[in-house]
Amino acid sequence: MDNSIRLEYLQAMGIDVWIPRTFMPVVSESEPEADAVTKEETTELELPTNLLGAWVDLETEVASCTKCNLCQTRTQTVFGTGNKTADWMIIGEAPGQHEDEQGKPFVGKAGLLLTEMLRAAGLDRDEVFITNILKCRPPGNRDPKQEEVENCSAYLRQQRELLKPKIILAVGRIAAQTLLNTDAPLTKLRGNVHTLDGVPLVVVYHPAYLLRSLLEKRKAWQDLQLAVQTVKNNKG
Ligand code: URA
Repeated sequence: MDNSIRLEYLQAMGIDVWIPRTFMPVVSESEPEADAVTKEETTELELPTNLLGAWVDLETEVASCTKCNLCQTRTQTVFGTGNKTADWMIIGEAPGQHEDEQGKPFVGKAGLLLTEMLRAAGLDRDEVFITNILKCRPPGNRDPKQEEVENCSAYLRQQRELLKPKIILAVGRIAAQTLLNTDAPLTKLRGNVHTLDGVPLVVVYHPAYLLRSLLEKRKAWQDLQLAVQTVKNNKG
């Protein structure tokens, strides 16, 4: 991403004022594009064969899923991308138009902001695993229906079991409420460390909401720092 856009995002989040030095991203401008091997590719090579096979089987199963009507309107499924040995699992709501077109989660405007938020917390997109509650786009980006969430839940559960993350970041109200099985509003859910099957879970505002609400960007940064601190504390 262009550095000026990155700076704009960070400034809008208030990060320029109080980002700790240790969180500053290391950006290598000189690395030649042609030689770039993504961390996603290298970490896949590091996976034991049986685990890699389980991931491939699951992705193949998701790609041909017809459990609900979303299979009729999707361009393709959006399984998730990133490091399959990651400590961090980022879970959003559902693919939007860009994600549906590209087959990758969080690649639209909100995705760019999420990427920048992660980067500001010292995390590269390639080193976390990003996915959604739903693997198919709801038409017109409407909220997921209960039956769609239920049909898709086994896929996400299997992804969690394969990844065994050290922290889960629930992005936005729908992801948070679904994962924590609650109707509580996001304002009540953020700011705390929850637990999902023994894994710490932190809730952050959805970047699409942050793009509309400048005032909440600082809170999102606080939530990210809570997650970073939780991982650090658990590493001892
Ligand atoms: N919003 C989400 O919750 N997930 C995506 O992948 C894109 C936008």
